[in-house]
Amino acid sequence: MALWSGRFTENVSEFTQRFGASLPIDKQLYAQDIAGSKAHARMLGEQGVISKEDAQAIRDGLDRIQQRIEAGEFEFDINDEDIHMSIEKALIADIGEAGARLHTGRSRNDQVVTDTHLFAKQRCTDLMHANLELRRALVDQANKHFDVVLPGYTHMQHAQPIFLSHHLLAYVWMLGRDFKRLAAARDAADVNPLGSAALAGTTYPLDRHMTADELGFASVTPNSLDAVSDRDFLLDLSYAASVSCVHLSRLAEEIVLWSTSEFGFITLSDSFSTGSSIMPQKKNPDFAELIRGKTGRVVGDLVALLVTMKALPLAYNKDLQEDKEGAIDAARTLEDCYTCMAGMISTMTVNEQAMEHQVGKGYLAATDLADYLVKKGLPFRRAHEVVGHLVLLCEQRGGCQFEDLSLYDFKNESDLFEPDVIELLDSRVIADARTTEGGTGRAAIREQMALVEQAMEDDERLLEQIG
Ligand code: ARG
Repeated sequence: MALWSGRFTENVSEFTQRFGASLPIDKQLYAQDIAGSKAHARMLGEQGVISKEDAQAIRDGLDRIQQRIEAGEFEFDINDEDIHMSIEKALIADIGEAGARLHTGRSRNDQVVTDTHLFAKQRCTDLMHANLELRRALVDQANKHFDVVLPGYTHMQHAQPIFLSHHLLAYVWMLGRDFKRLAAARDAADVNPLGSAALAGTTYPLDRHMTADELGFASVTPNSLDAVSDRDFLLDLSYAASVSCVHLSRLAEEIVLWSTSEFGFITLSDSFSTGSSIMPQKKNPDFAELIRGKTGRVVGDLVALLVTMKALPLAYNKDLQEDKEGAIDAARTLEDCYTCMAGMISTMTVNEQAMEHQVGKGYLAATDLADYLVKKGLPFRRAHEVVGHLVLLCEQRGGCQFEDLSLYDFKNESDLFEPDVIELLDSRVIADARTTEGGTGRAAIREQMALVEQAMEDDERLLEQIG
């Protein structure tokens, strides 16, 4: 019979027992559950609700259970509804009467949400660490290939030359925002719901700040109904994970594209590629594809939780038991994706020549030729048209490039063109001319790099503070 079976005369059926159980999922929260119970027991002892001896016996008993779980010696009973019941039952079996006093002034409703707060907080911290490592890998490649130019694309068509470092740093900024989202989700989890009991608080003189201190929570929740019903902190974690996965999927897509024969911009290391069982020549970017694909599941986890929460009345409802599986999955998946992506980025070979070769195609100097004329007084719309004619001329000549035209050809479209126009056709000159703050010119990238380093240092310091 279950620990709550006093008013029942019959057991639940085998099917409803299994259907209603959350143990297969929440046993992953055993450490958080034990930490919460230990803090509760000590506080009950300090407040004189139970004796200090009983409190100590409970804490010691819980330590023994934790050791057994971690040594693989704890047999989870599949008939237990959840991790809370499992551990409490084992405690009572171990220490008897004292163990039966643990649940004084507590409900599984505040117990489970306390466990989940602790879990979410820890996982956000783990993800913040992994996020920073991936950013480091990207920044290292950006520094290593600082001067390499490649085509920048819009609509997947050659647009303007950019430096590879600029391209890679774009992802570093996305990930930097993800870090902030994860930190905000961590803050949302950093509140102690313990002491809210079933929904209304309790009649015992609980000291909620004492449990908050032991559990490392920054504050206590101010409303017991909200505390047991709230899963915003899990939504925040799932949302942060989803956005970051979407970012990773974009990077993954570029890795897939860049490692095709058509692009050949990068070669993935063997340890981040797979072969084909039939085509001996194949080297597939499976892991980039997997990251791209896993994004679907992580976003699904977010949507599932949002829909679970929709229209739920206060306070605890069993629907809330569905909250953990997706959040656990989202955090684990994103952590693995960060690790995989960092490995893939730091071991890939950048084929600088392939990038530079593509820069020579697609009239990447067109905007700058137009700007050249503008600087000589021609209105931009006119200049746009003149350069458009030059592109047409190249295409009519079988797809030659601006470099293949003579000064005569240029002058034929506008006599504002002078011999110095030839210098403008150099992609590095073009890219470097983008001196705007945040632009792709190397001087601007150097400034950007300093900001990136500063942001990463700040984030590192935050992680040190968190511990
Ligand atoms: N297994 C439950 C969950 O994950 C624990 C809370 C159960 N509370 C209750 N009143 N049935 O949500």
